[in-house]
Amino acid sequence: MSKEDAGTLWGGRFSEATDRFVQEFTASVTFDKRLYRHDIAGSVAHARMLQKVGVLSADECGAIVTGLQDILAEIERGDFAWAVALEDVHMNIESRLTDRIGVAGKKLHTGRSRNDQVATDVRLYLRDEIDALDADLQRLQTALLDVAEREADTLMPGFTHLQVAQPVTFGHHLLAWFEMLVRDRARFQDCRKRVNVMPLGAAALAGTSYPIDRAYTAQLLGFDGIAENSLDAVSDRDFAIEFCAAAALLLTHLSRFSEELILWTSAQFNFINLPDRFCTGSSIMPQKKNPDVPELVRGKTGRVNGDLIALLTLMKGQPLAYNKDNQEDKEPLFDAIDTARACVRAYADMVPAIEPKRDNMRRAALTGFATATDLADYLVRKGVAFRDAHEVVGKAVRYGVEQERDLAAMSLDELRQFSAVIGEDVFAVLTLEGSVAARDHLGGTAPRQVREAVVRARARL
Ligand code: ARG
Repeated sequence: MSKEDAGTLWGGRFSEATDRFVQEFTASVTFDKRLYRHDIAGSVAHARMLQKVGVLSADECGAIVTGLQDILAEIERGDFAWAVALEDVHMNIESRLTDRIGVAGKKLHTGRSRNDQVATDVRLYLRDEIDALDADLQRLQTALLDVAEREADTLMPGFTHLQVAQPVTFGHHLLAWFEMLVRDRARFQDCRKRVNVMPLGAAALAGTSYPIDRAYTAQLLGFDGIAENSLDAVSDRDFAIEFCAAAALLLTHLSRFSEELILWTSAQFNFINLPDRFCTGSSIMPQKKNPDVPELVRGKTGRVNGDLIALLTLMKGQPLAYNKDNQEDKEPLFDAIDTARACVRAYADMVPAIEPKRDNMRRAALTGFATATDLADYLVRKGVAFRDAHEVVGKAVRYGVEQERDLAAMSLDELRQFSAVIGEDVFAVLTLEGSVAARDHLGGTAPRQVREAVVRARARL
């Protein structure tokens, strides 16, 4: 067995070298090397703890810490030679450490296993990624608030069943997306509490016979808690599943948002323009400008859903404790992280650049009898029971469909055919401005409410 083989780290009980293909098949370094910073941080803390409890001498610990820091620099310079034969990030770094500092390097793994090591690394890595994702989510939310405030008076049709329902303000519509992201961020923060629990000390599965000080290691690494059960600590990946579930929901929200942006940029809606820098063209149709960023975000939702299902399926049949199956947790988790971060970043960049076509939005709100409910509410205020008012307005709408004219375009005499209580004051309630201004309560679409909601939202950020 050559010196570069993982076998030098565990080969004692083996009588022949690992099959070449099996070596490649079982290796994870090609994808887990991205954990190097967190692996080194975990090792430094472990070494310091071992010194504190007297398992390592100060000299040994010093050599290990310096050696690991040098390796970190080597990796970041691009000078580190990753070897598939050394299986994973952990053994690549440990083997290099021994090359550099000799026998002290061989003591680093005392009281530890790759099982608690990898679970620790993934948690540390995910904790940082959640924090970075949260910062981008906040940036996106701030962008939504800025645009919502600017568009608090902009009128557009609100839809149910994708049919014109009632007028809303564009600002109000954008605040709906803001609220979904509030819940997404809360889900990631809640997930983070369970991510930030330290497995180290569980060793392979049963704990270790050395007098370790887990509280000290946890403190060095910024963990909020220590895993209570060693078998559970090395085996469960529920924290990664939770992250993927939260990411799948986030992407589901962004996918719905994307669907709207795609509809709105179409010639049929023509509600917004997306600047050219967020779009691409067609290689055959010279006129095309495609909303690629929203389309890709909508598409990428599928892969994050896939990542979630992959992890759930990975976990479901595993007996306690660690099984090699768990090496398969990384690619789906990393993919969900990368995808969520890229999509949020793209949206945070794009949202401030959305150019509303206010005249088109307004014109669309003037079709489809968007103020029919306002007419019914008007009749109720004049003493008509709501069900009767509903019937009256239904007839007026049927007449309008036949005449191809909206309610506000009818004369007072035409409207009075349907109810004698209708007076000149009806036209104020049939305007778009009157309709939205009337919905003047917490959570309503009135421009005044949108401005107040923005103020409250900024305070919540
Ligand atoms: N590369 C492994 C993983 O990602 C590290 C843990 C390996 N442990 C073991 N007993 N083979 O899960």
